[in-house]
Amino acid sequence: MSHSLVTMSYIVATILFILSLSGLSNQETARKGNYYGMMGMAIAIIATTLSGSVTSYVVLIVAMLIGGSIGYRAASKVAMTQMPELVAIMHSLVGMAAVVVGYANFLDTHSGLMGVEKTIHELEIYIGILIGAVTFSGSVIAFCKLSERISGKPLLLPARHWLNLTVLISVVLLGYFFLNFGHADAEYFRVCETGTHNCTEVGYSPIALIILFIMTFFALLFGVHMVMAIGGADMPVVVSMLNSYSGWAAAATGFMLNNDLLIVTGALVGSSGAILSYIMCRAMNRHFLSVIAGGFGTASGGEAAAIEGEVQPIEAEETASVLLAAKNIIIIPGYGMAVAQAQHTVYEITKLLRDKGKKVGFGIHPVAGRMPGHMNVLLAEAKVPYDIVFEMDEINEDWGKVDVSIVIGANDIVNPSAITDPNSPIAGMPVLECWKGETTIVLKRSMASGYAGVGNPLFVMDNTRMLFGDANVTMQAVLKALRG
Ligand code: TAP
Repeated sequence: MSHSLVTMSYIVATILFILSLSGLSNQETARKGNYYGMMGMAIAIIATTLSGSVTSYVVLIVAMLIGGSIGYRAASKVAMTQMPELVAIMHSLVGMAAVVVGYANFLDTHSGLMGVEKTIHELEIYIGILIGAVTFSGSVIAFCKLSERISGKPLLLPARHWLNLTVLISVVLLGYFFLNFGHADAEYFRVCETGTHNCTEVGYSPIALIILFIMTFFALLFGVHMVMAIGGADMPVVVSMLNSYSGWAAAATGFMLNNDLLIVTGALVGSSGAILSYIMCRAMNRHFLSVIAGGFGTASGGEAAAIEGEVQPIEAEETASVLLAAKNIIIIPGYGMAVAQAQHTVYEITKLLRDKGKKVGFGIHPVAGRMPGHMNVLLAEAKVPYDIVFEMDEINEDWGKVDVSIVIGANDIVNPSAITDPNSPIAGMPVLECWKGETTIVLKRSMASGYAGVGNPLFVMDNTRMLFGDANVTMQAVLKALRG
């Protein structure tokens, strides 16, 4: 493939990626956005494969077959509720790729670069490995936390901010030494077998390699520490932040490999991930830097207030009667709806109530579930019309007019202690204030806490009723009672 054709293909792929991102920003165009992304990626792979930069097609095909089949298997087997874990582990692979490409570039003695160009190339290598290693270890810890392989509780080392600062200063200093010891353009370093004249010439400084190893170790440590220190309900910010890091790691790989498309694609992912993190932080009322520095999701000193009061259970038949007596109903879906896969039954109930002249809407919290847009995806799958799905800010104004709200497998996102208890780990996070409506019915299996591990006073409020059981089973019983 000629150089200009490759460039043309890269431009087309870039445009498709931009269209994909803009499509994904809206539920109605999300499917189209996915198709644009797939087309862009197919063009990118074909153009790169035929660009003449491939040295061994056998290695490439074997690698693509192995990678492709692992990806296919993972994507077809994954349950909707495990999607965030899959995304986290995929981010770790991008980070690992940046590290491996960085080392391969450093050890490659055939670059032929000299002087300033070589320094710039080495800076790219250093930054690429740095971002890649942080992304890798941070994503692995995020994966372990999201899949509950390790506790979601924040690990708070006594001098954690000093530790972060020390790592930062060390990495900058190491970078300075790396650039000053890494110049092998003039003299080659010789490695000889002891006692013989059998020497090999290598084009890199062993000292620079050791510096790279030390920096990689620090970067891995920082990634682990950063994510371990984040707890409570702040994981969504970490997931989107690691998404952004993986983009920058890909961009750094693009610089190392001199691949314009990888640079542009990485920058698109990096910046869109950064914007998403910012939106998440705003939604959770957090400062971005404070989340990165760690320690959020922890009590601010005192003990969180104990939850005291009496639980008032309700049965499916009575729930149906309450719904039939109501005029204005709001449904609040949460992670439990995804676990129970109750969205289709919920929509059946919604249609039935709307047919009876009730006003029914859905209230979506920005971090409901386990990934951005989780609830919107489930509702779209059940074909719930978009015009009855409202964001938290739209709903929080109007609770006074709501007769009944049904909380389906949600917990943290409807926890009043976020507003009332300054010592709560989720203090300051905006929540859906459903208790301000006339009656709230909460569907869950037990009195267990949600992701943040915090007790929820909503469950014992006077105007709250608890409908215990798997959300799909209880919703089906309610549907049956409504029909009966
Ligand atoms: P959670 O606070 O995790 O609460 C979910 C509730 O669903 C649990 O209390 C659980 O109680 C119930 N549940 C589980 N399976 C159920 C089933 N089959 N039937 C009925 N109920 C079931 O969820 P949320 O309110 O959606 O809040 C999301 C939380 O996840 C926030 O803390 C958020 O920060 C965090 N998080 C979000 C994201 C993103 S990006 N959205 C990413 C990572 C973490 P039982 O066990 O008693 O049934």
